[in-house]
Amino acid sequence: MVFNKILKDFPIVSKVNYLSTASIGLVPTPVIEAVKEFSVELARQGTLFLDEEKESMVYDGLRREGAKLLGCNEEDIAIFNSVTEALNCIAWSLELKEGKIISTDVEFPTVTYPWLRIARKENVEVKLVNAKNWYVPLEDLLNEINENTKVVVLSHVEYLTGQKHNLKEIAKCAHDVNAIVIVDGVQAAGYLPLNVKELGVDVYITGSYKWLVAPFGTAIAYISKKLYSELEPTFVGWRSKENMWDLNPRELSYASTARKFEYSTSAYSVKIGLVESIKYLREIGIENIYNHNMKLIQTAMEELSSIEHVNLVTPANRDERGSIVTFEVDKEDPKRIVEKLRKLKRPVELTIRQNMIRISPHIYNTEEDISHFTDNLRKILS
Ligand SMILES: Cc1ncc(COP(=O)(O)O)c(C=O)c1O
Repeated sequence: MVFNKILKDFPIVSKVNYLSTASIGLVPTPVIEAVKEFSVELARQGTLFLDEEKESMVYDGLRREGAKLLGCNEEDIAIFNSVTEALNCIAWSLELKEGKIISTDVEFPTVTYPWLRIARKENVEVKLVNAKNWYVPLEDLLNEINENTKVVVLSHVEYLTGQKHNLKEIAKCAHDVNAIVIVDGVQAAGYLPLNVKELGVDVYITGSYKWLVAPFGTAIAYISKKLYSELEPTFVGWRSKENMWDLNPRELSYASTARKFEYSTSAYSVKIGLVESIKYLREIGIENIYNHNMKLIQTAMEELSSIEHVNLVTPANRDERGSIVTFEVDKEDPKRIVEKLRKLKRPVELTIRQNMIRISPHIYNTEEDISHFTDNLRKILS
């Protein structure tokens, strides 16, 4: 079984029950080695190692792998250093002067802040649809979309609750009124099979250091051809151009593809790391990873729902959730529970968010990890 074979690439999991990928994913040893080798050679040899052609190729390689991951053309991919950077760059390039932006009130702040910032300057209203008991009904989102709407921006899978949104329906409804849909897919890409063209969204951004099991410092964004052709980037630099090596300071023009949003050098070794990680995950097969993770989530949901004092906030419907399970615990301080789980002989590593406990299993977790966690939680709460 492929998932048993890869465990050797994540040595920490033999000692720790690591259930915290929604915070930081573990990087497989072959990827760590590739990043190390690239950074060491670059530091030791400078241009002897990284000539002009190679410098261009680092990003080309990542655009190629990113396109395979997201189901689009290489030309539609732009590379950034973080999801937050990508969202801000795209948000400001829209040059909105008026209209309504729709999101939800359970988003990670990075998703809503750029628009709240724009609203301080322009005649833009940011409407955050209220979750009901942490769940955002699709109808509530669709009901907000009207002729005044310019952008719908939300996560594919919510970082807090694991709720997965129906992007196809949202995109259809938004496009009917000429609004665009911008998606933060950082809690989805890496285990969810993706085809951004089928989803019909205009922008899909994801980052390296969670489910894509790569180091910090990289994000990729799908930007539809229609959209990138219309937009002028807000931030520009030597890499914004079609031929970045012309180095002509008098003439500002842009690459003819989504690459126009890239503008500077960056930590190239982590770009190499993301290329290797995407290859690693695709070799296992994203569909296989999805089935593996969803099976673990199903077991966790079943076990947790049978423990007294545990209130699940993750949707019960398999099609409406990702690889995250979150729950509240009645009358108990979640910090105390997490401390106890961390003190076990095989410690459980998980996350507290908004006073709730979140687990987020990935390729290096097993059914035994889930039962080890739920059995110990049951004991603590009994
Ligand atoms: C949904 C979501 N978006 C964005 C981020 C942060 O992304 P970055 O660190 O790449 O800016 C996080 C981090 O937890 C997140 O959960």
